[in-house]
Amino acid sequence: MNKLRVEGNKNLNGNVIISGSKNAALPILFMTILTEEKIKISNVPNLTDINIALKLLVYLGVKIKYKKILCIDASSINIFHAPYHLIKKIRASIWILGPLLARFGKAKIFLPGGCKIGRRPIDLHLNGLIQLGAKIDLKDNCIDAYVKGRLQGKYILMEKISVGATITIMSAATLAQGYTVIDNAACEPEIVDIAKFLNSLGANIIGAGSKKIYIKGVIKLTGGVHQVIPDRIETGTFLVAAAISQGHIICHKTEPKHLKSVLIKLNEAGAKIETGKDWIKLDMRGKRPKALNIFTAPYPGFPTDMQAQFALLNTISKGIGTITETIFENRFIYASELINMGAKIEIQKNTIICYGIPKLISSNVFCSDLRASATLILAGCIAAGLTIVNHTYHLIRGYESFPNKLNKLGADIKII
Ligand code: EPZ
Repeated sequence: MNKLRVEGNKNLNGNVIISGSKNAALPILFMTILTEEKIKISNVPNLTDINIALKLLVYLGVKIKYKKILCIDASSINIFHAPYHLIKKIRASIWILGPLLARFGKAKIFLPGGCKIGRRPIDLHLNGLIQLGAKIDLKDNCIDAYVKGRLQGKYILMEKISVGATITIMSAATLAQGYTVIDNAACEPEIVDIAKFLNSLGANIIGAGSKKIYIKGVIKLTGGVHQVIPDRIETGTFLVAAAISQGHIICHKTEPKHLKSVLIKLNEAGAKIETGKDWIKLDMRGKRPKALNIFTAPYPGFPTDMQAQFALLNTISKGIGTITETIFENRFIYASELINMGAKIEIQKNTIICYGIPKLISSNVFCSDLRASATLILAGCIAAGLTIVNHTYHLIRGYESFPNKLNKLGADIKII
């Protein structure tokens, strides 16, 4: 899928089933490297990033069976390096490093790829592993890591909050000798899900979801079964779909407590929000949203992965809205495409200022990254006329059946 035809002037209403979390499933797949016993994982979303992660695991020698449930057997890993053409495709491939090092004492991977939303360094990942006793050589864009014997547990103070690096260190510490403390850890729900998964395999992790994670290393892990948490960013994206089209929606099979900061902002925009055990209902009652002022921040703050979607909401809201991006340094690329659709936008340093207008106009737009893709498709759904959205290959990296789910809500999107 590389180009979509999106009819405008739609109100998006109805029910949507939320898929499993991309940002929990990806690291959990790589965590299976830590054990030689069989694993079963459910609620894994069908995404290109997931498929690339599975290809990487198979390359290492992992046996995979994938029908509804993903069955993984990492007992016969016999390769400890991964090929450039796969590593380069996903940022998540960095999570091969910690588990290979922890279980086999060696790993060799190229620097990972990922969305162009910023420099995406991995210094915090590598520093963490070095503090656990790893020797790491960086040459020709390749990371060559090894440790004599086992990694050694350590107190590690993260100089910057990093989801990825917290996951790398937590995974490696699982099999290290002794205790590890990760201080100033990221608190995202995905980290809690990974810790829950690892503990179900016999790991000894407490405090995941708080600023301090305590890990007591164990000799080896067992097998287990795990269900991936729902995708909070997909949920937020569909809530915005209803909010910008003055519609109403119920998101099913989701986790409201993972979206507190997003729900607060949607309420501020004038949405009526109701939540239950595994559902969220949003109703705009036919009203245009009110503009919002937002700062992105590490969890439980407002998620950077919802920044583009809320900027779109601000472009058609009543009033002037601002979003300050504090996590990534280049995450406003989509703004020029929204300006092509008539949006009144100014970028001042790391803040996007939107002067609300009643309606966008259709255009020929180009996606630059995953969340921008979803945002431009939603913009096409509400703009006047027919919008062509190009480079939508970014979309299927992180959203399962997004056009189909939107069409069930009243959109008219066709692949061309
Ligand atoms: C994860 O990326 C997510 N990706 C991102 O989602 C998400 O936006 C991000 O966390 C923040 O929540 C996956 O889970 C696959 P970070 P990650 O390490 O781990 C800097 C999406 O759309 N940093 O928390 O790469 C970094 O440059 C994606 O689903 C270092 O300086 O994010 C950034 O400024 C986009 N050195 C900040 O920390 C490092 O070694 C936070 O990055 C690592 C990160």
